[in-house]
Amino acid sequence: MAATDLERFSNEEKRNLALGGHVGFDSLPDQLVSKSVTQGFSFNILCVGETGIGKSTLMNTLFNTTFETEEASHYESAVRLRPRTYDLQESNVHLKLTIVDAVGFGDQINKDERPIVEYIDTQFENYLQEELKIRRSLFNYHDTRIHVCLYFITPTGHSLKSLDLVTMKKLDSKVNIIPIIAKADTISKSELHKFKIKIMSELVSNGVQIYQFPTDDDAVAEINSVMNAHLPFAVVGSTEEVKVGNKLVRARQYPWGVVQVENESHCDFVKLREMLIRVNMEDLREQTHTRHYELYRRCKLEEMGFKDTDPDSQPFSLQETYETKRKEFLGELQRKEEEMRQMFVNKVKETEAELKEKERELHEKFEHLKRIHQEEKRKVEEKRRELEEEMNAFNRRKVAVETLQSQSLQATSQQPLKKDKDKKN
Ligand code: GTP
Ligand code: MG
Repeated sequence: MAATDLERFSNEEKRNLALGGHVGFDSLPDQLVSKSVTQGFSFNILCVGETGIGKSTLMNTLFNTTFETEEASHYESAVRLRPRTYDLQESNVHLKLTIVDAVGFGDQINKDERPIVEYIDTQFENYLQEELKIRRSLFNYHDTRIHVCLYFITPTGHSLKSLDLVTMKKLDSKVNIIPIIAKADTISKSELHKFKIKIMSELVSNGVQIYQFPTDDDAVAEINSVMNAHLPFAVVGSTEEVKVGNKLVRARQYPWGVVQVENESHCDFVKLREMLIRVNMEDLREQTHTRHYELYRRCKLEEMGFKDTDPDSQPFSLQETYETKRKEFLGELQRKEEEMRQMFVNKVKETEAELKEKERELHEKFEHLKRIHQEEKRKVEEKRRELEEEMNAFNRRKVAVETLQSQSLQATSQQPLKKDKDKKN
């Protein structure tokens, strides 16, 4: 097909055609559902809130089961993320549920939100690495990306702590945050109303983006927009069953009465369960993939040097990016090589100069020692000459003394003879 034909074809309006009879592609949605059901679903919840705020109890209440829990100590040395994965089944639907606890968060010295941010990023990174593999297996990949962060607010009735605001601000571009007021049975109805308003206004004034239940799907738009106005949900958790009337209900029993978890006039637990599990679970999964993961992926790929357009805003393919990066890399390698060669030459020159200097110093030392040696030799020679002269003089004197001695001896030996002669005469 000629290029112009192709262009004309692609620019043509699509025409609506009527089918003569049943073809069968109306079963596509069913095929999709059946495939998803076979594959199963994964859903990952991150619980952030101070130690003992009621995270585990709420999870148990939400899923109507007992997850493994161990109480966190108030003396953890740092914030630690503890993921636990469970396989749940309802009818024929399998749910791989991961509950991640931010253990130690909010405890005196462990206020840091960084481990939480790092954990979320690591799950995105793992997914990205899988996506970038040549042989990908996303079909059976265990997706550990966090779909929702339940942020447990302490029921002070006062205002949000700065730690809450800082943490939520750090997390809001990475995860869907649903703020909830925990242990809502410990705060009075009028206080709770004011507290909710205060929290929402603080979140808005600090630019914290919390998850909004979607209102673009007609089927759920109404309920979601009503529920958005109820945020943050004030919840009560309990795994205890109490008899109310002739029914056993989950509740917390106090000397003055019973707080029923699933009674909407007592708390917002039902609203939370409805929104989180029954209406918006898929939207939370989708938002995680299309918004939060997409943002992470874009930043990461840009950081790695990938881009969609060149500086002239022309499309830039992966191949071109690769070539550019390769050239950049080779250039950098050459520059490094040259730098190292130059460094080596300089080092050799330096060492050579040092050796020469050492040689000169040694030579000077040698000359100096030689001079000292010659001087010493000359002095010794002089001393020897002096001694020789002294010896000669001594010898001369000795000979003279000896001659004198022998002469005087001779003289003394002749004197008695003369005396004898004189006597005779
Ligand atoms: P760690 O995992 O140790 O940080 O604690 P947690 O946040 O998981 O709290 P957990 O669910 O273990 O609850 C701590 C205590 O608070 C328990 O005694 C619960 O019975 C109690 N608790 C939990 N939910 C509520 C609630 O809604 N209201 C009240 N009043 N108490 C609650
Ligand atoms: Mg717990």
